[in-house]
Amino acid sequence: MKLEDNLNEVLSSPGLTRKRIAFIGIGVLVATVVCISVIVAVSVKSSSPKSSSISMRYYTERLGSTADAIKWVRYSSQNFSLTDAFAGGTGANGDTVYVCRAEHPSKTSYKDELIPGTFFPSNGSCEVPYDDKANPHSVFDLLITKNPSRLLWANESKGKLQSGTISGGYTAYDEELYISRFRTYGYTVLGKIHLAHMKASGPVEGYERYSEDYDVLCFVDYEL
Ligand SMILES: *[C@@H]1O[C@H](CO)[C@@H](O)[C@H](O)[C@H]1NC(C)=O
Ligand SMILES: *[C@@H]1O[C@H](CO)[C@@H](O)[C@H](O)[C@H]1NC(C)=O
Ligand SMILES: *[C@@H]1O[C@H](CO)[C@@H](O)[C@H](O)[C@H]1NC(C)=O
Repeated sequence: MKLEDNLNEVLSSPGLTRKRIAFIGIGVLVATVVCISVIVAVSVKSSSPKSSSISMRYYTERLGSTADAIKWVRYSSQNFSLTDAFAGGTGANGDTVYVCRAEHPSKTSYKDELIPGTFFPSNGSCEVPYDDKANPHSVFDLLITKNPSRLLWANESKGKLQSGTISGGYTAYDEELYISRFRTYGYTVLGKIHLAHMKASGPVEGYERYSEDYDVLCFVDYEL
């Protein structure tokens, strides 16, 4: 069966709304000691990306391989491991930076946002872009995979996505946030794409900086 068909099946099942998948994900985070979450979702490029997400767990089962699993693992600044962490490029101080995400309070809702950003191993800080600021977090998730060749950065612009784009979080209003990469002052900035904004943004020297041109993180073999 084609993944497309499976996807339609998942989407037409009333119990498996995107919101619910996210909710289950949060439950897993809270409930497990190891705190491995599986709420990475895939989004298919379409006129309505909101309606086309599947869970990472589903994707992994589909491929029948846990060795290839791509997952988020919760860490803190005091205690983190870079083993299998997904590197995103060379950051501000010349060190390698990694894809992270962190929960951040919304200014306009009681719900938190879950925002992708840049992890700096030098000080153990995950900085996420929000409210025109770079917001440092000492509790965060790192994107972990034993097989980074399964992921690719696709060149895009102005809020456009690619087939197999990975969801990296959500706003307080349940809009997907995707994982972006762009360069500024010659170094790599990892951040988010909020489709409503039609551009990427990331943490740069204390501020949230925006870029209309960016790379978006996708699965390579999504079409399997
Ligand atoms: C750090 O994390 C590891 C693995 O989860 C754990 O075994 C260890 O006790 C932790 N150390 C501290 C100081 O929290
Ligand atoms: C951590 O280091 C990065 C890179 O040098 C820097 O941009 C950031 O402001 C630092 N964050 C904190 C919380 O010190
Ligand atoms: C990819 O990025 C380069 C700049 O790095 C840009 O010149 C080019 O137009 C982009 N291609 C696409 C298809 O967006």
